[in-house]
Amino acid sequence: MRIFALAPLLALATFVFAHPETEDHPATAEELIARNTDIEARNVAARKCAPQVAEFEAQRLQKRAKLMKRQQTGTFTAPIPRTTSITNNSCVLHPETIEGPYYIRNEFIRSDVRETQPGVALVLDVGVIDSRTCRPYPNAFVEIWAANATGAYGGYVGPQGTPTRIKDDTWLRGGLFTNAQGIVELTTIYPGYYTGRTTHIHAMVHGGNWQSRANGTFVSGSGTVNHIGQFFFDEAWNDRVFATHPYTTNRVPRTYNNRDFIMQQAGPGAVAKLSYLNGNSVTEGVFGYITVVVNGGSNYRIQNNNALR
Ligand SMILES: *[C@@H]1O[C@H](CO)[C@@H](O)[C@H](O)[C@H]1NC(C)=O
Ligand SMILES: *[C@@H]1O[C@H](CO)[C@@H](O)[C@H](O)[C@H]1NC(C)=O
Ligand SMILES: *[C@@H]1O[C@H](CO)[C@@H](O)[C@H](O)[C@H]1NC(C)=O
Repeated sequence: MRIFALAPLLALATFVFAHPETEDHPATAEELIARNTDIEARNVAARKCAPQVAEFEAQRLQKRAKLMKRQQTGTFTAPIPRTTSITNNSCVLHPETIEGPYYIRNEFIRSDVRETQPGVALVLDVGVIDSRTCRPYPNAFVEIWAANATGAYGGYVGPQGTPTRIKDDTWLRGGLFTNAQGIVELTTIYPGYYTGRTTHIHAMVHGGNWQSRANGTFVSGSGTVNHIGQFFFDEAWNDRVFATHPYTTNRVPRTYNNRDFIMQQAGPGAVAKLSYLNGNSVTEGVFGYITVVVNGGSNYRIQNNNALR
């Protein structure tokens, strides 16, 4: 408990002294402390589902391993995900983090959000568990948004300077619903990095009676917002991806995981487990899976009012 009590102060110290210009930072110290207090409570709530999360992940991995075995032909050796067990606080904690300034409401409902953005394909298997029941959470809209290979967010000028919404780009934004097993598969590109942040993907989970439009867009805030978070990646995978084109053309200095206070706050549960999608090179794609434990009864407030027109 002592460690928990210190966490807000440590985060605050890191925020004030090490990252004065981080874009995704909260407005005031009070907000940051309040948010950390919240995170602690939610982490405690989520941790009790640890055995169910372990079971859920093992089932998904077995299914995928079988699928890949079936796809094996000739000399091609499909990768079999290795991790089959989790510990109490490695996969379960999925704390709320900061929405940041780049969200855009009412994006398209789709599984592939890449459009024409170049970069390493990233297929994400996102499993959602409701902490109230420790059971898979079906029919939840899992939405992602991220920077492109050179660290720019669609629709915004920046991220250097004050983020300003300038157009209706929809690339690397959007989401889809979890199936009856609480799982959704999304395809994006491995995001690049921008000044002050390690590479990450923003995620929002919407439940309740959400609405969609005839033109295939989701109505943000129409249901309940059960989660606002970010996904992260191990540095070994970041290194592999950032050694390829066009990531190599990114000229901004890289911020590493251990210097990113939002990632430190989020903890290991927010790190996607990765493997090669095909073969043994990132150029053929990366597969990632992550389990997000959310409270289906919660309803967070979306800060950003920018909407797709
Ligand atoms: C997880 O934590 C609970 C409660 O602290 C404990 O009873 C249980 O044995 C732990 N499980 C594992 C796999 O460590
Ligand atoms: C990322 O997006 C920015 C802004 O639209 C664009 O200038 C840049 O070329 C994109 N990066 C890549 C690798 O295409
Ligand atoms: C989708 O339809 C709604 C109204 O039904 C509209 O407000 C919105 O701008 C449309 N979105 C796009 C991307 O066309």
